Amino acid sequence: MEFFLDTAEMKEIETGLEWGMVDGITTNPTLIAKMGRPYLQTVQEIARLVPGPVSGEVLATEFDEMMEQGRRLAGLAENVIVKVPLTPAGLRSVRELLKEGIRCNVTLCFSAPALAAAYISPFIGRLDDVAEDGMLLIDQVVTIYRAYDFDTKVLVASVRHPVHIVQSAQLGADVATLPFKVLEQLYKHPLTDSGLERFLSDWNKTGKKFDE
Ligand code: E4P
Repeated sequence: MEFFLDTAEMKEIETGLEWGMVDGITTNPTLIAKMGRPYLQTVQEIARLVPGPVSGEVLATEFDEMMEQGRRLAGLAENVIVKVPLTPAGLRSVRELLKEGIRCNVTLCFSAPALAAAYISPFIGRLDDVAEDGMLLIDQVVTIYRAYDFDTKVLVASVRHPVHIVQSAQLGADVATLPFKVLEQLYKHPLTDSGLERFLSDWNKTGKKFDE
């Protein structure tokens, strides 16, 4: 499974890259708005920093404008994936952009569709928030896309905690996009910390160095 970071914050991206834990980035208008910086410029800067795919979302809701914004986003860098909402105009744009060789990530997916795109992004946390089962949607989407042999990666979005990642991986999802906090949580365990402390203090009691 690949890990993307769901952020527009450069510091988080740099840290994730240093850890070797980041295969790509997803952004959305909310995340970029938090940065208080120009929209396209932010996507472009992230795409320059990250070797993998970087999703930048169209702001338009009508077909013609979605097409225009999709082309501009895709023109920023080769690794930009155009994020398009799962609406009728969005799906039409995905089909047309694909004909132009532009890869799309279909976002805000809350039911199991079958459509050809580079990525499909089911939002699991937001379903859990309204007392539905986000993981059931991942199961349905993975099953349907595999059954019909779609060349589309299932990208688990709206992840809230590490258990979401483990369960999505067990179901065979291709990618999970994580807030930075969840990436940290994946590798943080109190038993690792206390175990390490004990190993080191036991050795330090000998009074000897590493190479003695
Ligand atoms: C995915 O591409 C979205 O940016 C994201 O996962 C939304 O998550 P949220 O529900 O935490 O806002």
